[in-house]
Amino acid sequence: MMATQGKKVWMDGTLVDFADAKVHVLNHSLHYGVGVFEGIRGYAGPNGPVIFRLPEHVKRLLDSARLYRMSVPFTAEEIARAVLETQAANDFVPSYIRPILYRGEPALGVKNRGGKVSLAIGAIPAKKYLGEASETGVRAKISQYRKPRSDAIPSYAKAAGNYLNSYLAGVDAADDGYEEAILLDANGYVAEGSGENIFLVRDGKLYTPGLESDILLGITRTSVLQIAKDLGYPVVEKLVSVNELLTADEVFFSGTYAEIAPVREISHFPVGDGRAGPVTRDIMDVFYRAVRGEEPKYASWLTPVPPLARVVPRATRREKGSA
Ligand SMILES: Cc1ncc(COP(=O)(O)O)c(C=O)c1O
Repeated sequence: MMATQGKKVWMDGTLVDFADAKVHVLNHSLHYGVGVFEGIRGYAGPNGPVIFRLPEHVKRLLDSARLYRMSVPFTAEEIARAVLETQAANDFVPSYIRPILYRGEPALGVKNRGGKVSLAIGAIPAKKYLGEASETGVRAKISQYRKPRSDAIPSYAKAAGNYLNSYLAGVDAADDGYEEAILLDANGYVAEGSGENIFLVRDGKLYTPGLESDILLGITRTSVLQIAKDLGYPVVEKLVSVNELLTADEVFFSGTYAEIAPVREISHFPVGDGRAGPVTRDIMDVFYRAVRGEEPKYASWLTPVPPLARVVPRATRREKGSA
C-alpha cells in the first residue's frame, strides 16, 4: 500500500541510511507495543517544502509519551528540529514522516521501564492512502471490532499497541472487499476509521464524534473543524449513532495519510449520490489549498523546511552511512 523507501532515518540525533535503521529484536516496544508515534505530512509549499501542523504533532507525540509513562530525553523544540532535519535529508514531497519514541534496548518484562527512550524519524514518499478511492469515494465497512474503551487503552495516545485494534478492523474490511473500516465504540456509537476520523453532513450541518467516543483527536479533524466553521457551516461534536451515519447526506474521513476522503458506501448502504457531496467538496477545496500554502488564513499551519545545512549547522551535523 505505502511506498517504503526513504533515504535517511534520524536516530537519536544521527542521520543513518534507510537500510541501516535497525534496533534489537528483544526491545520492549516490539514485544509490548509501548511506542508512541506520529504521522506527519510534508508538502510542496510555494517556496519549498513545508510541514503541516508541526507543533501540534510534536505536542501530541509528547502527550502520548506522557500517557504511556515514557520519559522523553528530547524537548519539543529538539523534536521539531529533528523532523525538519529528516524532511531536509529526504528531499522529496509529498512525504509522510513518522517520528517514533520507543525503547530500543533489549529489555524483556512488561513493566520494564529501564531501557532508554529513543527517537527515530523516518520519511517515505506519500501517496494517496486509499488510492483512487480517495477521489471517487471510499467503500467502508462497519467493523465488528469495537474501539477499546479509553479507560483500558487511552485513545488520545497514538501508541503502537493501540493499532492492534485498527489492524484487525482494517484487514477484516479489506478481506471483505472494502477499502476501510468504521469502528464503533464500546456502546455502539460511531467512533472513527482504522486510521482516520469521520465526519457526516446532515442538512448542511457537520457532525463528528467527540473524545467521549474513544477516538484519536486527529490534527486533520481539528483543521477540518476550523475550515468548516470559517466557511460558515455549523459543526457539532457529539455521540453519533449508526442510524445517523447511514442516513447522512455526506460522509468523509479525515487523517494525515488519508487527508480528506469522501465515503460513498457504508456496509452496502450508498451514501448520498455516491460522490463527494457539496459540503465535503467545499472543505476539501480549502484544505488542499491550505496545505499548498494557497490560503493565507491558514499560513500558520505550515512550517517551512530550511535546507539541511541550515537546520543543523555543519559543525554539529552527524551522519552515518553513505552519501
Ligand atoms: C485511529 C486514528 N484516528 C484518527 C486519525 C487521524 O489523525 P490525524 O488527522 O492527526 O492524522 C488517525 C491517523 O493518524 C488514526 O490512526
